[in-house]
Amino acid sequence: MSTVLGFDVYGTLVDPFGMEKQLVARFGEHGPAICALWRQKQLEYSFRRGLMRRYEDFNACTMRALEFAAKAYQVELSAAAHQQLLTDYLNLPAFPDVLPALETLKESGFRLLAFSNGVEESLRTLLGNAGVLSCFDGVVSVDDIKTFKPDPEVYTYLVNRGGRTREDTWLVSSNPFDVIGAKAAHVRAVWVRRNSGAQFDPWEFEPDVVIGSLLELTTGLKT
Ligand code: LAC
Repeated sequence: MSTVLGFDVYGTLVDPFGMEKQLVARFGEHGPAICALWRQKQLEYSFRRGLMRRYEDFNACTMRALEFAAKAYQVELSAAAHQQLLTDYLNLPAFPDVLPALETLKESGFRLLAFSNGVEESLRTLLGNAGVLSCFDGVVSVDDIKTFKPDPEVYTYLVNRGGRTREDTWLVSSNPFDVIGAKAAHVRAVWVRRNSGAQFDPWEFEPDVVIGSLLELTTGLKT
């Protein structure tokens, strides 16, 4: 029975800050700040919708967050520009370590799942465009159960979809809130800390493993 690795997508496999170039081209000096606020609000909207039990999918959270960020910086966002940026969001680049690490892990016999707040169809397009979809044995979207990370239900859903025990299932994520969510749901978790300046929240939960690159996973975990 192989171990299941559930990979977070946005921020772990693909880089949401890959949008900065397009945002600078449209909004000049405000581009980087709009990019950061867009991501921050996207996550905040998902957290709030989960808590409020007012589910609306991650595409909608992403769309509304971009609208908020543009308003916050008082830049003009036409309907066409809004739509184009959301289309560009399906072309986020994969981090350079992703493809070689996934290929090695797959060859070693791990069962690999993409596991995300994103909508399955968008995730398949995104991962396909990034050239990594074929590495995965499956795509697990929280949209199936209409709630968001870090609701404990989504980590149980990952375990169930992976078809292995909780002990044989790992979350792999760069997002500390996601790692903490998994640990709180008794799922083991790897924190991918590509940037040494990244901070982990000082809560009562800690990652089981911390790595600086996904390539370190290929030597560190048992199939
Ligand atoms: C995801 C978000 C949380 O891919 O980054 O699930």
